[in-house]
Amino acid sequence: MRTCETTVPNAITAPPAPDVVVVGAGLAGLSAAWSLARAGASVLVLDRDAPGAATSRVAAGMIAPVTEAEPDHPRASALGVAARDAWPGFAAGLAAASGVELPLLDAGSLAIARDRDEAEALDRFRAVRERMGLRVERLLPSAARRLEPALAPTLRGALAVPDDLAVDPRRVVVALVRAITAAGGELRDGAAVRDVVVADGRATGVRLEDGSTVRAGAVVIATGPWAGEGVGVPDADRIPVRPVKGQLLVLRDPDGPGLVTRVLRFALGGGYLVPRPDGRYVLGGTVEEQGFDRSVTALAVHDLLRDGAELVPGLLELRIEESIAGLRPATPDGLPAIGASPETDGLWWCAGHYRNGVLWASVTGGLLADAMGVTTDAAPFAVDVDPRRFVTTTPGGPRDR
Ligand code: GLY
Repeated sequence: MRTCETTVPNAITAPPAPDVVVVGAGLAGLSAAWSLARAGASVLVLDRDAPGAATSRVAAGMIAPVTEAEPDHPRASALGVAARDAWPGFAAGLAAASGVELPLLDAGSLAIARDRDEAEALDRFRAVRERMGLRVERLLPSAARRLEPALAPTLRGALAVPDDLAVDPRRVVVALVRAITAAGGELRDGAAVRDVVVADGRATGVRLEDGSTVRAGAVVIATGPWAGEGVGVPDADRIPVRPVKGQLLVLRDPDGPGLVTRVLRFALGGGYLVPRPDGRYVLGGTVEEQGFDRSVTALAVHDLLRDGAELVPGLLELRIEESIAGLRPATPDGLPAIGASPETDGLWWCAGHYRNGVLWASVTGGLLADAMGVTTDAAPFAVDVDPRRFVTTTPGGPRDR
């Protein structure tokens, strides 16, 4: 293992330095921490807020390599398929380690066209996925309505996507926190990290906003959409992650679950309706380049409800439980940055999961633990997620963005 030797505390009263400090308790950081802790590393997770509070609690929870497939990013799709295949085992292992049940919605998705433009988009959607070798099946509107009777009678076309799954990401966060603790790891919330401490070209810990220092054998940056800000890392280590805002609504059916029983996707624009087992529905999501703005706008709420009701008119009977916005951490090539930092020894990245933080959570921790040399068995697939791929001196390259 390249970096995780235990450091010696410099004062009799100082707590022992953990092997690894993970900055950020979203799904990426927690997944990393669980894999490391399970493999025997001592791990401390720091977050300025509660676990999952920024991005993971806003995630819709789709485990959807097929509907999220992008022809421009075939390697991201390949990672998605591997991650989807890993999810049932990941969920079962996590449930056993945490005592938190993690039911997977395995009814697949239905992609729906509401009008002629969307019907044409649905044909393109199908053709792209067939070319990528992903399973989709054209359905007559009547067949789609037999599967989901709440769909509007006016729908123009539908596509069954049998291989997508979904999960409640907030339960996954709770489960990961418990599993990390059960494996001997520690989590500290309200611990805002100001910068990474680097000595002789090596990360030796982090400095907190309150001025205190946490020493560690290795530092993992898992700050999601804020990863591009760098958390005080040397400039040469920075990676190109930018925030892409998504607004969504959480609706609740007071009569319980059953109005819609599988994930519904819009043929155009990436929108979705995701049912939860307890009668909640996540209706999302906008895709906006607005920097770090996380406000919820009247326009977005209006558009989400209008589009949702055109798909499932009965949605207008539901209660609005939450209107929320999150930031997707986007990279230029659609793949996450999981592995060694370009310059500083002992510094690692686990970020850049864009729309796929829940999907890729099943493999993220293993990929990082493998990269760190803590484990050797996580990745039976070859997708380059190494953050050093972003290093370039080319004008206009990531460093010049
Ligand atoms: N994965 C869904 C979204 O990012 O909106």
